[in-house]
Amino acid sequence: MENRSCLTIVLAAGDSTRMKSSKSKVLHKIAGLPMIAHVTRTLADVGVKDAALVLGRDADTVREAAAVPGLSLETFLQSERLGTAHAVMAARAAIERGYDDVLVTYGDVPLVTGAPFLAAREMLSAGHDVVVIGFETDKPTGYGRLIETDGQLVAIREERDASEEERRITRCNSGLLAINGRLALELLERIGNDNAKGEYYLTDIVEIAKADGRSVVSVQADESEVIGCNNRAELAVIERIWQQRRRHELMVSGVSMMAPETVFLSHDTELAPDVTLEPNVFFGPGVTVEAGAVIHAYCHIEGARIAAGTSVGPFARLRPGAHLHAGSKVGNFCEVKNAEIAEGAKVNHLSYIGDASVGAAANIGAGTITCNYDGVNKHRTEIGARAFIGSNSALVAPVKIGDNSLVAAGSTITRNVPADALAFARSRQTVKERK
Ligand code: UD1
Ligand code: MG
Repeated sequence: MENRSCLTIVLAAGDSTRMKSSKSKVLHKIAGLPMIAHVTRTLADVGVKDAALVLGRDADTVREAAAVPGLSLETFLQSERLGTAHAVMAARAAIERGYDDVLVTYGDVPLVTGAPFLAAREMLSAGHDVVVIGFETDKPTGYGRLIETDGQLVAIREERDASEEERRITRCNSGLLAINGRLALELLERIGNDNAKGEYYLTDIVEIAKADGRSVVSVQADESEVIGCNNRAELAVIERIWQQRRRHELMVSGVSMMAPETVFLSHDTELAPDVTLEPNVFFGPGVTVEAGAVIHAYCHIEGARIAAGTSVGPFARLRPGAHLHAGSKVGNFCEVKNAEIAEGAKVNHLSYIGDASVGAAANIGAGTITCNYDGVNKHRTEIGARAFIGSNSALVAPVKIGDNSLVAAGSTITRNVPADALAFARSRQTVKERK
């Protein structure tokens, strides 16, 4: 395989009509990452060198979303959406350079792995001219069906053009196709648009190559690897498959999940071995959790670093820039944003800590609020090591509380408190005898 040149063409120009969306389908996200980026990352991971991306709707945004370090993507514009074969021909200049193998894959088939590409290329190197990646499914609606006689692939029939009987076929076209690069242009040029949609269907290449006596074969892939996304119900199914796959990988690598089906991961969530997740935890992008941390039930976490031996939740929200250092604790109904919670510090109940630093072993009492926003700007709150903030205190930023200091419960702190001090900022209690 090493000595065969290969061009991989990714089609992402479509209008995405069935998504009923204000943006291109391939920009819709799976695990927080646009569908098209899942495809291009996989190509980069399997060492693809020459890749062409065909753009149409939302071309600039799709181009940006598709960029991955280490993969050079040559882009082509399909100015009118006239079908998948027409889209491939938009990359004509690349095909004309002459490759041994030409692979086509679709931007709306985001879970594809390297395996089917490799299998298809092996068939080309064994001398076949067109290799279709097919799959077996119990929900064939919407897919092109593989028409086979005596085990030989003779055509691919699109749903709209299929007869009643053909629609009952459960072996479908994944959209991944490999073509002998020496024949590709000649075959593609002969594809017409005489079908129900009036489009140039790439899938017609099968019948055209067959008529020339070329060798056309299909290779089977697993449905979970090649499932396509045409509407939002399918998007949700793909998300579910992605989540299942990733949760499984993480559990096998040492992460405990009590109810894995209730945990939602982002494409980049990093969980170390011996992390424990209780039920109903959601990870947005940019989260790292180190060994031994326990995330209790019902937490929403994004953009956060959670060090070893920490405890989070239940019912905690960690927002971007939250950094929990080793052994610290953020408990129930607390929100932490852009804040350092140093070693062993505790924010246990009903607090908001934003744009702040909390010193080592400090204790933040229930209901403490850092008032970080004055309506125009955000300001910082610095709380020293071993400080004790009494319950229901408001710390009006910018403000500093020194090491070892104590703030009395119910205080509204507007001025700095030095180290080793005791601050009261509340009205004194008066008690009057009733007659
Ligand atoms: C296509 C296949 C079908 C297969 C299914 C697998 C054809 C004719 N049909 O159908 O056999 O079972 O994928 O998911 O190929 N695109 C363009 N320009 C166009 C049209 C489409 O770039 O003019 C792109 C789309 O952005 C998309 C991909 O090609 O990423 C597939 O197009 P789509 O309209 O989704 O085709 P399907 O109906 O899913
Ligand atoms: Mg599709």
